[in-house]
Amino acid sequence: AIRSASSLKEPYESSEDDESNNNIDWNNLGFGLMQTDYMYTMKCGEDEQFKQGQLTRYGNIELSPSAGVLNYGQGLFEGTKAYRREDGRLFLFRPQQNAIRMQIGAERMCMPSPSIEQFVDAVKQIALANKRWIPPSGKGSLYIRPLLMGSGSILGLAPASEYTFLVYASPVGNYYKGGTASLNLYVEDEYHRTMLGGAGGVKSITNYAPVLKAMCKAKDRGFSDVLYLDSVNKRNVEEASCSNVFILKGNVLSTPVTNGNILEGITRKSIMDIACDFGYRVEERCIPIEELIDADEVFCTGTAVGVAPVGTISYRGKRTEYKMSTELACLKLYSRLVEIQKGTIEDKRGWIVQV
Ligand code: COI
Repeated sequence: AIRSASSLKEPYESSEDDESNNNIDWNNLGFGLMQTDYMYTMKCGEDEQFKQGQLTRYGNIELSPSAGVLNYGQGLFEGTKAYRREDGRLFLFRPQQNAIRMQIGAERMCMPSPSIEQFVDAVKQIALANKRWIPPSGKGSLYIRPLLMGSGSILGLAPASEYTFLVYASPVGNYYKGGTASLNLYVEDEYHRTMLGGAGGVKSITNYAPVLKAMCKAKDRGFSDVLYLDSVNKRNVEEASCSNVFILKGNVLSTPVTNGNILEGITRKSIMDIACDFGYRVEERCIPIEELIDADEVFCTGTAVGVAPVGTISYRGKRTEYKMSTELACLKLYSRLVEIQKGTIEDKRGWIVQV
């Protein structure tokens, strides 16, 4: 049975009981929040050094109404996953990459950031403390969400004087409601995700709320998600609401070049490496929307999304359908990624970190 929060030990102490989560329907996990037992918090003051992080029971946090993050959006988030293997061992996928991305984002948003070691240690602690919430092998993963925010009070526009690094987690399955069904994307040419010189290249919280309007409108019309175009030419493909985009034409796999607008996705980078192993030519460049319409395959990648084939795109009233089959190249690339994550194929690049 799920223990009530009040029966949990504090500070964190592992026990036999940590394994029990018998009444969860692991076969029907979506991407909704399921509260887990513990979160991790680490603070940093004027000296810009994070220290003494700790696990506490998951719950609401106290924040000043004048906190930098609430007033001026001084915040970043990350996403990474912990997996359980058949033999019960727990693994993370390239968590150092998330740590580095948070450091780059923190620099952009005028925030101090945890060291790579502090970040990875916190992610490991969260995976272990919430071990009973990591789905059985093949049923999903524990999505781990690190946050970095200006928690100090500020009235005039300026960087906050105190920062909080917080990590929580939730078991997840497929991101989209349709499970592994192909995506129907709406190409948006009124609203843009980001603009040159903005913060689109980092995981700033300020990149996400502005897409909600276009995304909700498209979802109401039955689309799975929205594909955004660049704001200057309204022509080059950038990203979907929360994933990177790839196109395949013949033997060439292309994805938009990270010119400061595009998030450097860790799944994006991994799929590019795997595609090279498979003998594809991989290009990062500007991709005009016309090329998508002409592509053999289009797919999205992300930590939350995984690798999701696109079935249709709708652009200026015209719908393009892509051939779907179990033989899609993107599914082969994804299978290889999953095999590396599951440990059924050699991890020759050192992507896997055991917890
Ligand atoms: C992730 O893939 O981790 C993301 O950031 C997507 C999130 C907006 C749900």
